Amino acid sequence: MSFDPALSRRRFLLVAGAALTAPGLAACGAGTVSAETLPAAISRVESTRRKGGARTVTHSLVAKPTRLDLGGVQVDTWAYGDELPGPRLRVTAGDVLRADLRNELPADTTIHWHGLALRNDMDGVPQVTQPPVPPGASFRYEFTVPDPGTHWYHPHVGLQLDRGLYAPLIVDDPAEPGRYDAELVVVLDDWLDGVAGTPDEQLDKLRQGGMHHGWPQGMAERPTSLVGGDGGDVAHPHLVANGRVATAPRSFEARPGQRVRIRLINAAADTAFRVALGGHRLTVTASDGFDTEPVETDAVLIGMGERYDLLVTLGDGAFPLVAAAEGKPGRALLVLRTSPQAAPPPADVRPAQLSGRVVTLADLRSTPGHRLPARRPDRTLTLRLGMSHRGYEWLINGRAFDPRRDDLPIQEGERVRLRFVNQTMMFHPMHLHGHTGQVVRADGAGPRKDTVVALPMRTVELDLDADNPGRWMVHCHNAYHAEAGMMALMGYTA
Ligand code: C2O
Ligand code: CU
Repeated sequence: MSFDPALSRRRFLLVAGAALTAPGLAACGAGTVSAETLPAAISRVESTRRKGGARTVTHSLVAKPTRLDLGGVQVDTWAYGDELPGPRLRVTAGDVLRADLRNELPADTTIHWHGLALRNDMDGVPQVTQPPVPPGASFRYEFTVPDPGTHWYHPHVGLQLDRGLYAPLIVDDPAEPGRYDAELVVVLDDWLDGVAGTPDEQLDKLRQGGMHHGWPQGMAERPTSLVGGDGGDVAHPHLVANGRVATAPRSFEARPGQRVRIRLINAAADTAFRVALGGHRLTVTASDGFDTEPVETDAVLIGMGERYDLLVTLGDGAFPLVAAAEGKPGRALLVLRTSPQAAPPPADVRPAQLSGRVVTLADLRSTPGHRLPARRPDRTLTLRLGMSHRGYEWLINGRAFDPRRDDLPIQEGERVRLRFVNQTMMFHPMHLHGHTGQVVRADGAGPRKDTVVALPMRTVELDLDADNPGRWMVHCHNAYHAEAGMMALMGYTA
């Protein structure tokens, strides 16, 4: 399909035009309706974010085929440069990020800035917010970075996310109290590219009916899974933490007694992880970039696309940070070392904390300063998450994604409630672009989230303030589900 930049603007104006036919308005004539185009609305909102004297942070990124070493496992894949994860970008909230992407891949690509409520035309969704960047071409992303937090970036084309194309994007808070001594960014991923074919070949297999049904008994780390009986669609042969398999883990050096902020990012395509640090309890301080009231826990469960910030005061030794796949076999590992003498933990170490308390959505409270003001929703949009009977197709409200169709129309200024009704036996980490919602709960203190796990046969609701005009994706962050249809567009109408 060819990209039509006029299409989105035309739709925006069309709806404004439709208002003219409403009784009472018809007589006024076109001149009295201020029909703002979508590009104008985007610039208007961006200019309210842009502070005079804002710093511009410049980066160049090259998406290209490369050979990576995952720790004894050599893979030919696609990545941002020659590292995995790709280059860590770091900015301060309020900065302008200017990132020049050069596409050296043999395929179209884009970059999506996952978690940022940025200007819509920089959101990196092909056919929707920009034409895809063809092989050999470049694209400049430039936008004000609105909020601090732990975020990341990846392509929004096909299954490229399930290759090596992902990296952290850390946004510092100018008012950060800095109550930690050291920082560790951990990016988790499930890996198959260059080991078991490519992600695209994997999807073909799923479409030919090759989805496995249930993992072999005893293969999973635990008999009970917090995401239901079905941990995923794809058997990735490896799990990696910061680009390394568990038999050759990366090691993070610190001193005993230091307070470490762990920024955890799940970049996997099809795997939720249960994460624990041997010998320690963890304090959750943020999720999806937004502060939560501190909660102590043994472990966290992190769905694809989610982020958690954790604080921990390290003991003396070498401690395994284990990320066990939830509801499927396998694990990733990282070693936190404060003593050079301590023996490294074995690759299959199983700290007791993994079967201890796991923090859930219900345990998390946003800090008072980060809560949405109490307000009744102006509009509730229901998204029924389903599966097709015809084959490997994942659906929202019975339909597969079509970039020409805005399934979820909203208006600027509204409080919108997204109601995710999971009618399947699988979990779906539902991700919203351009906004960070708040999980709906009776106490009004649900955590702010841009990615929320809808458990099998359960409903979860997210409220958001419609303050960022554009056409925004709402989709499952299981890359295979998204590619097989489980995406929709939430479009602002004038
Ligand atoms: Cu992280 Cu629409 O994606
Ligand atoms: Cu899904």
